[in-house]
Amino acid sequence: MGLGIKGYLPMTPRNAGLASVQMVDRILVPNAFDVQTQEVVVAFREPIPLDVQLDFVSLRMWNLKRTSGYGSGHFRWDGSPGEMAISPMRTRLSDDRLRLVMDVPLLFRADMAVLHLQVVEPSGDRYPLELYTRPVHLKAGVPTTLGPEYSSTPQDLKPGNAALGKQALARLNCVGCHSLDGERSVGPPLNGIAARSPKPLREFLRDSIMKPNKVVTQGYPAAMPSYEGVVTPQELEHLITYLEGLK
Ligand code: HEC
Repeated sequence: MGLGIKGYLPMTPRNAGLASVQMVDRILVPNAFDVQTQEVVVAFREPIPLDVQLDFVSLRMWNLKRTSGYGSGHFRWDGSPGEMAISPMRTRLSDDRLRLVMDVPLLFRADMAVLHLQVVEPSGDRYPLELYTRPVHLKAGVPTTLGPEYSSTPQDLKPGNAALGKQALARLNCVGCHSLDGERSVGPPLNGIAARSPKPLREFLRDSIMKPNKVVTQGYPAAMPSYEGVVTPQELEHLITYLEGLK
């Protein structure tokens, strides 16, 4: 039992309601997630109970690129693929326990922000609380630090490892659209892909994941999102090695 909120909260002009809220147990409903240039605020309908703790896990922001293709990769402020991981300098709860305030000097523009918190119950149980927003009012400005994990150069990369590739496939929820047992889904089944795909195989797989609109598999819609900036270069190596070995 616990609480899990995954919501989409449009920020125009101030805030609106959560589009989708799933909740069990405690009433801990955020009614605003606001990203300003100096602080990020989550406001709750009811005060956070004294025995409940809210832990900061991560704040990620990225820009999107609009193309004629489906979906967009994630891009940093310098245009390179990736996301910005932002660490607040300070996190505090207002005296009335209605607002969680994170001090973050945000000097840039972002199309998307995802805040991940953890609710710690008195029993010690932890539940994720994930909030999404489009901070459309942030002005363009100076980028701060870049997340290191997307900026590795090819010579830093270790050879692909199939077991880690399998984990990446799960983490990225590729299986939401692809079966591994030959069943047709939104996308083609991934088993046997090595045998049926054009060569050089690694290049084909890399393009399939990063630039899915380059070659659209016959008989399927162009409904595969680009994973540019979503998958790290190292994870991509692992994924490709895993896919290569799928019988
Ligand atoms: C929202 C659904 C969706 C998700 C999520 C998705 N794909 Fe796809 N994928 C598709 C569709 C639809 C196609 C066929 C159209 C195309 O080629 O773009 C496809 C095509 C592919 C192909 C080429 C298949 C072939 O037989 O030629 C590969 C490889 C692939 N996806 C890998 C992945 C991987 C790896 C992930 C996770 C990182 C992933 N996909 C996530 C929908 C999805």
